[in-house]
Amino acid sequence: MGRLEVSPQGLIDTAHRLVGVGKGLLAMDESTGTCNRRFAAAGIPQTEEARRAYRELIVTTSGLGDSIGGAILYDETIRQQTKKGSSFVRVLTDAGIIPGIKVDIGAKELAGRLGEKITEGLDGLRDRLKEYSAMGARFAKWRAVITLGDGLPSRGCIEANAQALARYAALCQEVGLVPIVEPEVLMAGGHTLERGREVTEETLHSVFNHLYTQNVMLEGMILKPNMVLPGLSSTNQESVETVAAATVKCLLGAVPASVAGIAFLSGGQSAEFASARLNAMNILARSTASRLPWPLVFSFARAIQQPALEIWQGKESQVAAAQDALRHRAHCNHAALQGEYSATMERS
Ligand code: G3H
Repeated sequence: MGRLEVSPQGLIDTAHRLVGVGKGLLAMDESTGTCNRRFAAAGIPQTEEARRAYRELIVTTSGLGDSIGGAILYDETIRQQTKKGSSFVRVLTDAGIIPGIKVDIGAKELAGRLGEKITEGLDGLRDRLKEYSAMGARFAKWRAVITLGDGLPSRGCIEANAQALARYAALCQEVGLVPIVEPEVLMAGGHTLERGREVTEETLHSVFNHLYTQNVMLEGMILKPNMVLPGLSSTNQESVETVAAATVKCLLGAVPASVAGIAFLSGGQSAEFASARLNAMNILARSTASRLPWPLVFSFARAIQQPALEIWQGKESQVAAAQDALRHRAHCNHAALQGEYSATMERS
């Protein structure tokens, strides 16, 4: 294993506790800019205190630990506390939820490739990871974005992002943090499901080649992919079952069996579609014909938080109702892991 200094078993155990016990992950790692944009759209003031209050609402939602095994925080959030003075890390840990941290510093324009992005954040990463680990984080996340379009993505964009993901993952394992490796093929565009599948497969092959080259232990990492979907503006929107079958087939062709688990991003799908598609995949996974080597769970941000955010509106009087909405989405997605989600859960 080359430079791996920490116990490989520790990484394997953490990865298993995150995705192998019938729970999913809650992504609450929006950068300040992204969080402010979502607040602005919901008419909420874009202040540090509003962001803190919103994150307090999330981490203090009772019963969240029944469905959520890990929560991904942002640099600002991991340093924040509840009004009563408990750190968010402590509140999550007490609820049985493992704290994690987003460590990339965002997707920037890729030089020489109009319309494509490269995720930055490798410089100084080793020291930042050590700091987050000392603060209680047990896993990390890095997101790369791949844009579809006329002549896109380029091989250069896929390769550059895959290499950065692999270098990040190796650094995480070196300090004992489980890396969540997130290559997101974006939904934006008019592409077909087949084109979405093709690009997702090419991206995953490149990512796993680089992970191998950088000596990343696959048993101690989690993949966070997009579901295979037609573009948002495509006129050919496919059924839940078709999306589930295409996604499972694509993953089977590109993801090694030793990966600890797969935790999907939601990517702008509606909350209900994200739950229904995850549910359909887990029904497929249980059929003897397509038994899968990894658990298929969720690591949603928008598809789990958005209803709660809209109910909250930044008002103290709305906290309980917003927490109910968050708990409900967590519960729906938890049911989807067993293949037991149905639209009737939404009506109840
Ligand atoms: O990096 C992206 C988030 O962790 C997942 O967000 O579910 O809204 O796509 P999303």
